[in-house]
Amino acid sequence: MRVGVLTGGGDCPGLNAVIRAIVRKGILHYDDEIIGFLEGWRGVMENKAMTLDMDAISGILPRGGTILRTSRTNPSKRDGGIQRCIENLKSNNIDALITIGGDDTNSVAQKLFEQGVNVIGVPKTIDNDLSGTDFCFGFDTAVNTAMEAIDRVHTTAEAHQRVMVVEVMGRDAGWIAMYSGIAGGADVILIPEKPFDIDEVAERIRMRHARGRYFSVIVVAEGAKFASDDKHGAPVVSEMGKDEFGHVRLGGVGQILAREVERRTGLETRYVVLGHIQRGGSPSAFDSVLDSRYGVGAIDMVHKGNFGNMVSLRGNDIVSVPLAEAINKNRLVDPTLVEVANSLSDPLPATTSKR
Ligand code: F6P
Repeated sequence: MRVGVLTGGGDCPGLNAVIRAIVRKGILHYDDEIIGFLEGWRGVMENKAMTLDMDAISGILPRGGTILRTSRTNPSKRDGGIQRCIENLKSNNIDALITIGGDDTNSVAQKLFEQGVNVIGVPKTIDNDLSGTDFCFGFDTAVNTAMEAIDRVHTTAEAHQRVMVVEVMGRDAGWIAMYSGIAGGADVILIPEKPFDIDEVAERIRMRHARGRYFSVIVVAEGAKFASDDKHGAPVVSEMGKDEFGHVRLGGVGQILAREVERRTGLETRYVVLGHIQRGGSPSAFDSVLDSRYGVGAIDMVHKGNFGNMVSLRGNDIVSVPLAEAINKNRLVDPTLVEVANSLSDPLPATTSKR
């Protein structure tokens, strides 16, 4: 078969490892030809492609980024974009297309599937917020990077007797904040799912210091919201303009939080934004194995004709789920994890607690 592959949306560690697994199994076991479309959906729309042979993938297993490059191009927002994609796939004699991406990239895949294109999705995003799978690849590596940063921040917080705020990525879901915060021993973890009361955050820090601790670490997801009177709140944005999938650019909550905590507690406070550092580097061992399993799973699904589906991890099994289910809604942080985080920090006095 002639199989197309693309990587779309924000990059993450392990994209190359997935590409490598698709190409190796496709060529070595199915005698496939693999065509890589460049820069996400832009490459399909503008017919920019390269042949992915064994030489093209040599040595890419640990490499960050993606040899196919990526973009946040949305063909549905361009005149005749979807149609151009379909025509270019036809002119390249593509029998099936594997789309490695998050909900945005895979929502376009679903649109093409509805128009008769044979698509298979692979769940990628450090945010870990795609439904239909237990883990997206890239997440574990990002968590390890964030955890290491939190460990480093801990020692400087302790040395200076400061409160340190660490802002991590996580637009709609706080998986990175929750995992890295628990793993790194953060004192307060703030996630988009649960708008936070700044007075309560300050109270938690005060209580900890009142029992003799002289430093604290707060981990906050970039999408976390200050609770407003109606308790919903809005995320802090660094730019109002939206990308082609309708997302504003988040950023800045850590800085505001640090200022407000310092004001309320009188404790010297600093903040650090980890940003795109979380998206770079080699995949962790867990991710690397998952990448290989996802790549092999995706090309196997192509040969089973299992189209309109996404390869997914359920427990320890690689299975397939309908793309429509995966893109339907964000997978939010499991409340039992929030419970674990709460259990590890000071309970607020009943009169203060608004939970
Ligand atoms: O891919 C997800 C993500 O890393 C989000 O956590 C973050 O809000 C966004 O991408 C940043 O995107 P960009 O690289 O376009 O600034």
